Amino acid sequence: MNRQKITDQLKRLEQKYQKTGQDLSANLEGLLHADYLKYWDYIQVDTLLTLQKPRTHFPDEMIFIIYHQITELYFKAILWEIGQVAHQQALATAVFLEKVHRMNRYLEMLVHSFQIMVKGMDIEQFRQFRMALLPSSGFQSAQFRLIELAATDIDNLVEESFRSQITPNTTTKEKYAHLYWKKGATEAATQKKTITLQHFEEEYAEMFLQWAFDYKDCNLWQKWQAVPTSDTHKQTLKEALKNFDYLTNIEWTLAHLKAASTYLKPKGKPIEATGGTNWPTYLPPNLQKRIFFPALWTEEEKEQWGTPGFVFQRT
Ligand code: HEM
Repeated sequence: MNRQKITDQLKRLEQKYQKTGQDLSANLEGLLHADYLKYWDYIQVDTLLTLQKPRTHFPDEMIFIIYHQITELYFKAILWEIGQVAHQQALATAVFLEKVHRMNRYLEMLVHSFQIMVKGMDIEQFRQFRMALLPSSGFQSAQFRLIELAATDIDNLVEESFRSQITPNTTTKEKYAHLYWKKGATEAATQKKTITLQHFEEEYAEMFLQWAFDYKDCNLWQKWQAVPTSDTHKQTLKEALKNFDYLTNIEWTLAHLKAASTYLKPKGKPIEATGGTNWPTYLPPNLQKRIFFPALWTEEEKEQWGTPGFVFQRT
């Protein structure tokens, strides 16, 4: 036992407790009685395992729930990294870069694991249990929308036809009203919002709008622009951000579309989705053209976005 080390640690502990007017000796006494930490308490495994609640008796519904939850946890991990980039005032570019690499690793994992959905459920079971899930949809993933709003300027998420009407006086609230996903879930002829969208907005609209304000000046795109051109990491960071854009808005979107097509178009004819969008025209990345960092791509790349002709050489 290194007695000197323990004496030093005790001194530092004493200083720590003194700052808040606490007694070191009383806290050491507490330590004597405290129980050891156990894995299951720390990771909250038992609680975690109570969160899968199928609505039907079909066994494969469990896979559907588990995989959605896994995805939501990775979305949380991505938001965790973005939050650190956004809210750190004196952010070292090397740290920014490391965070984007982390996000990209999470996304790679989500893209590859989507096979769990594409191949991992019995189609007949899926077609039946999905009817018990109406009108809910992955469309209502709030974290997915938070990632979008924290990644880029809201202008890049506004539906195409409204973009030309944006002026310097257009408010965030007005832009928010014209987000692409709202249009996707609104019937063109009647301008009626789907019930799925109505529920989503009832639950989260206030939070989304606040989030849009919060990230207006500190989203990933704003943060990248603030990096001085002379910074040696700027070019590598640009490539990492392009990869983030590509992984989210082409790779993940295509993997997800493949799942949708497998289950909702098994005989070539699309069936209605639980969220009520016209999904064959809404989901494909080449039609949706959700691009977080349009200024980082060439005109040709943007034209070919999400098509088989699109090539992105990752460095
Ligand atoms: C068999 C599996 C799946 C099918 C058939 C499917 C189907 C669909 C469909 C048709 C939509 C369009 C909205 C609608 O009308 O409902 C959608 C949207 C969405 N789904 Fe899924 N989905 C699947 C798995 C997942 C998983 C595992 C996630 C992970 C959270 C997810 C997240 C999303 C998101 C974020 C959207 C909105 C995309 C956008 O607005 O561009 N989906 N899904």
